[in-house]
Amino acid sequence: MKTRKTLKKSKHIVPIVPIVPIVPIVPIVPMNMENVVPIKIDSRGKGCCQGFCLEISKSNENEKENDNVVLLKTRKGTHYSAMQVQDRSTTFLYANFMNKFIQNLPERNMTICILGFACGSQALELSKYRNVARIDGVDMDPDMFRAFKTLLLLTKHNEQNDANKIQCYESDAESFLHRISPETMYDIIIDDIFVEYDKVPISYDFIASKLKPGGYLLINIIEENDLKRCMFQVNHAFEHVQLIKFDNGNKCIICQKV
Ligand SMILES: C[S@@+](CC[C@H](N)C(=O)[O-])C[C@H]1O[C@@H](n2cnc3c(N)ncnc32)[C@H](O)[C@@H]1O
Repeated sequence: MKTRKTLKKSKHIVPIVPIVPIVPIVPIVPMNMENVVPIKIDSRGKGCCQGFCLEISKSNENEKENDNVVLLKTRKGTHYSAMQVQDRSTTFLYANFMNKFIQNLPERNMTICILGFACGSQALELSKYRNVARIDGVDMDPDMFRAFKTLLLLTKHNEQNDANKIQCYESDAESFLHRISPETMYDIIIDDIFVEYDKVPISYDFIASKLKPGGYLLINIIEENDLKRCMFQVNHAFEHVQLIKFDNGNKCIICQKV
C-alpha cells in the first residue's frame, strides 16, 4: 500500500463537504507550442517578444550572485517568472521550497497541475524529477506561453529537463478545472495565481475535488489580507494545513486531502 507523508492537524478542523462531480462542458486541447517566434537579444542582454520585455540579469534579490538569470516582466514591469539560464531552475524561493517538497514525496508517476503557469520556471524544474510524470500548466495570458517557448530556446539544452512532460493550456484557472473530465484527478495542484485581476478566487472546496485522496494543494500568497481569507477557506476544505512564511514576504500553504 502507498504511504503518504501526513501533515500536522490544523487547529480549525471542519468536516469535508461532499462534492458532486462536475461534467465537462467543452473538451480542452493543449496549446500548440510550435509556431512561436523567438525573440532577439541585444548586446545589453535585453530582448523583446510580442510586447514583453525579457531581461537577462546577473543577479537580483532572490538570486545567487553571478548566476545568469532570465526574468520575464509584464508591460507593467511586474516580474512573473525567473529562471537560472544554466540549468533552467526556478529562482523563486517559494517555488524552490514547493519543488523540493514534491521531489521528496514517496509517490511515483505524479500528475501536477499548475494554476498560474506564467513562463514555466517552476514547471521546468519539476519536469526534471523522476517521480513527476505529467505537468498541466494553465494560464489565462497567452503571452506567458510565448515567453515559455522563448525561454526554452534561450536556455541551454539539459538532458535532465524533460519539457515534453509539460502540457500548456490557455484558460482561466477555474474554467479549466470545470472543463477537465471528472476522472482527471491530480496528485498535486499548485495555486500560483496573482489576485491582481480583481476576480473572485476559486473555491478551495472545488480545488480539493480535483485532488486524489492523499493529494496536496500548494498555494503561494503574498498579501496578508489574501492570507487570512485563504487560511479560513483551506481550513474548511482540507484536514491538514500548514503555513510557511518566507523572509521575502511570500507565504506557502500546504494542504493535504485525506
Ligand atoms: C506568479 S505568476 C506564476 C509564476 C509561475 N508559477 C512560474 O513558475 O514562474 C502568476 C500567473 O497567474 C496568471 N493568472 C492570473 N489570474 C489567472 C486566472 N484566473 N487563471 C489563469 N491564470 C491566471 C498570470 O497571467 C500570471 O502568469
